[in-house]
Amino acid sequence: MTKLLDINQLKKSFRQPEGGRLVVLDIPEFQIDKGEQVALIGQSGGGKTTLLHLIAGLLSPDQGSIRIAGHEITGLSEQGRDRFRAETIGYVFQTFNLLPAFTAIENVRLGMAFGSGKHQNARAADLLDRVGLKDRFNYRPSQLSVGQQQRVAIARSLAGRPQLLLADEPTANVDPSSADSVLLLIRDTCREEDVSLLTVTHDMQIASSFDRIEKLDEINQVDHTPASSA
Ligand SMILES: Nc1ncnc2c1ncn2[C@@H]1O[C@H](COP(=O)(O)OP(=O)(O)O)[C@@H](O)[C@H]1O
Ligand SMILES: [Mg+2]
Repeated sequence: MTKLLDINQLKKSFRQPEGGRLVVLDIPEFQIDKGEQVALIGQSGGGKTTLLHLIAGLLSPDQGSIRIAGHEITGLSEQGRDRFRAETIGYVFQTFNLLPAFTAIENVRLGMAFGSGKHQNARAADLLDRVGLKDRFNYRPSQLSVGQQQRVAIARSLAGRPQLLLADEPTANVDPSSADSVLLLIRDTCREEDVSLLTVTHDMQIASSFDRIEKLDEINQVDHTPASSA
């Protein structure tokens, strides 16, 4: 069976402010099937966000292969990666990243690179309806609760009909009482639209409801355990 995401021999390091390079990731292999929902867990500073950025093409690896829906993205130019991301990947940020000057429906429309204005409007309205914001189309982010803002961000991330949704601690800034429903919403919408899902979360209860839990320190050969002072 072909994998929706297929990572091989992936390495990433960063230049350190104090000189030298910090090796963050060395992942021999990691795969996600089409439609599969995977929870990624791991310690802070372990490289979870870096991995999501690499998969989204927001960062380039030092070496290795990242194939998404059969396309190798590591060889693409920055422009090529931007285009591929717009067509194939949705991203939900920890801090939502909504544009404050735009209304809910305008923010969702920004998630669509293609299609006529009429089509985009219908799609955005449908998604906002499905995330429970039918009566908030024309509200700006500052006029919405934090949980509602994250719902708009979820609608935006799915607007372009991605094959893969990446969510980086999507409930970290949402109050605990709405965290479960936000996660459930992401999962249900991905299932309805046959989108593969990779979510970073700290919540083991949430993680245990996914198809699979991946511990980053088990797939990553770099040891981020703080050195003991003994
Ligand atoms: N642009 C960067 N330059 C230098 N170091 C970075 C950069 N981005 C991340 N790092 C370092 O990489 C490590 C992993 O960061 P990150 O992927 O954000 O971890 P996580 O999301 O698991 O908390 C951290 O030690 C962080 O300081
Ligand atoms: Mg992170």
